[in-house]
Amino acid sequence: MQHNTMPFFPDSASTIAPEIDGLMIAELLFSVFFSVLIFAIVVYFALKYKRKSEDDRPVHIHGSLVLEIAWSLIPFIMILGFFVVGTRVFFRAYTVEAANTMEIFVTGKQWMWKIQHPEGPREINEMHLPVNRQVKFTMIAEDVIHSYFIPAFRLKKDVIPGRYTSFVVTPTKVGKYHLFCAEYCGTQHSGMVGSVYVMEESDYEKWVAGGDESMTARGEALFGQYGCSTCHLPNGKGRGPSLIGVYNSMQKLQTGGSVKADESYLRESILNPRAKVVEGFQAVMPTFQGQISEEGLLQVIAYIKSLEKEEGQ
Ligand code: CUA
Repeated sequence: MQHNTMPFFPDSASTIAPEIDGLMIAELLFSVFFSVLIFAIVVYFALKYKRKSEDDRPVHIHGSLVLEIAWSLIPFIMILGFFVVGTRVFFRAYTVEAANTMEIFVTGKQWMWKIQHPEGPREINEMHLPVNRQVKFTMIAEDVIHSYFIPAFRLKKDVIPGRYTSFVVTPTKVGKYHLFCAEYCGTQHSGMVGSVYVMEESDYEKWVAGGDESMTARGEALFGQYGCSTCHLPNGKGRGPSLIGVYNSMQKLQTGGSVKADESYLRESILNPRAKVVEGFQAVMPTFQGQISEEGLLQVIAYIKSLEKEEGQ
């Protein structure tokens, strides 16, 4: 549980942390090795080929194709190696691998982090997670660009207004870790910090059960409150399309073409309903821009997603 206070080596507490550290150390050693080698050769040649007398003239060199190819191709292959390893880590940080991956929804605003667990608990500047379980973060900013940074997880990802960003990581060590905002976002930027608590699975289950209404239930309440339910009738006979099974399905548009009804599309359709109207419906839905918070939007979307699950479509 103790904090590692050595600033160069923060705790290594996620599956990708050792991989990122390995890559960083390899790149560092690689750079140091070649820097030292080049400087040593510069000094050696400076001494070896220094002008020895007034009429000293070096032998003229007219280029060498073999040399040119060798010193282009060898470094290219070496750097390509880093690219391959780096890409693998990159993809791991964006790929949901486990069947029991949990979701966390993060909203950044001046100057706090708001965390929502689908089961219900909501936190500010604190985040509780179970150990050894993959987590997918879905993040958005309410105002300006922030950056979600947990050094122990080697997780740093910009949190942007108007767009969902995501990150996938598995915590591997029980403990308390720092949470920072890593993008200058105004006066209190330096105070936009918090703590991450990685707990044993059983402790987490206890903790999460202490929360209140689920995100889905909150979303359902908002769905009624904003009058969505009066038009989006489940039988498809309302003024708006039925939302049952809509999540992640392909929707034909009025203007031709189609769009996948993912989180971003659902969010856009709530805030700017005229942007992509579904075929067979009129653009009669009012905008909810400025009326619903990003947290609320995530709850409504969670509710719409649950409609799919319940119907098993
Ligand atoms: Cu938020 Cu810096």
